[in-house]
Amino acid sequence: MFQSLARLSPDSILGLMAQYRADTAPNKVDLGVGVYRDVAGNTPVLRCVRQAEQAVIYNQNTKSYVAPGGREEFNMRVEELVLGNTPGLTQQRYRTAQTPGGSGALRVGAELIRLSAPTATVYVSNPSWANHPALLGSSGLKLESYPYYDPAAHVLKFIETLEYLDQARVGDVVLLHACCHNPTGADWSLSQWQQVLDLLKHRQLIPFIDLAYQGFGRGLNEDVEGLRLIFAALPEALVAVSFSKNLGLYRERVGALIVQCEDSNRAEAVHSHVLKVARSIYSMPPDHGAAIAALVMGDATLKEDWVVELNSMRTRIEDMRALLTRHLNEATASTKFDFIKSQRGMFSLLGVSSKIVDQLRQRHVYMTADSRMNLAGIMPHNVAYVAESISICDS
Ligand code: LMR
Repeated sequence: MFQSLARLSPDSILGLMAQYRADTAPNKVDLGVGVYRDVAGNTPVLRCVRQAEQAVIYNQNTKSYVAPGGREEFNMRVEELVLGNTPGLTQQRYRTAQTPGGSGALRVGAELIRLSAPTATVYVSNPSWANHPALLGSSGLKLESYPYYDPAAHVLKFIETLEYLDQARVGDVVLLHACCHNPTGADWSLSQWQQVLDLLKHRQLIPFIDLAYQGFGRGLNEDVEGLRLIFAALPEALVAVSFSKNLGLYRERVGALIVQCEDSNRAEAVHSHVLKVARSIYSMPPDHGAAIAALVMGDATLKEDWVVELNSMRTRIEDMRALLTRHLNEATASTKFDFIKSQRGMFSLLGVSSKIVDQLRQRHVYMTADSRMNLAGIMPHNVAYVAESISICDS
């Protein structure tokens, strides 16, 4: 049966993680997989998470099933956090299902789109997260990429984005990154979001928004301004939410899919399909991380502490952006890397060839082949080495 299956090459991001782990050089630097690291190089369990976790364990009196849509209180807190007071709330036009991470939400969302509109094309930004095509395309949907960013010039291709999407057919779907665009770190301004919204409205396109870094860009509310604009104005929209980064719950797989519909009855009907899709793929999402997240979001003291911790993670990355830019400018006697300090979130694209990325790996500096750097891998003790390596390899 399995004779036809040839061995695959490793996933581009996870394969790099394995290569990094196997490297025994003491000066190795991990700018690969998108996990937050503190100045000591650790990916910490947040204080608020530790406290909530103890309470969850203490109060838990059963391990029985929850439901295909997960915990109700978690779903309610996610809606508050992501959508605030958008009109869909009072009109009961959206429903939320807890999912195994943001990836689970993307996959369930893709299945839902395929059920409702099997011939729709899903437009994915070029570039985008390396796993987007697999998560969305494995549902059988047709994917196409739209121009988003010029890695050589380090600028958004905003006019091209609008022109390209203006060719989409009514009912096609556009995958948008809510903030901290992965892999570029280049986000739209609010006025650009408004222009995208006008286009979606005019062409009757459906936004599917990936929200994996809420709080890592400018702040918990600021990072969803564009998303809220869209949800307030359009009858239908989807958002895949992840708590891997902002709560540091990576391995617990905590996420949610919110689907907004034209009215409450439609939202109920659509939700029944979401639950059926979930049931047919994984039956029910894992509970532990969602119980922790619900408690952190629902308890005023824990939430306050979360915001403090989140702000400090964001500030650390911003500081490293500024520090790396300064070292690169000094090492190359130029200002060509200035773009790094003004971008947002974990990633920036260095904008060099895969050959240069390979040369950097020879120097034990690891980034993905498209030259995506995770800025949280930069630390005061390694920044000079990284800047010197980039300057040598790129000369
Ligand atoms: C990344 O982009 O590196 C992260 O989202 C981790 C992953 O699963 O790819």
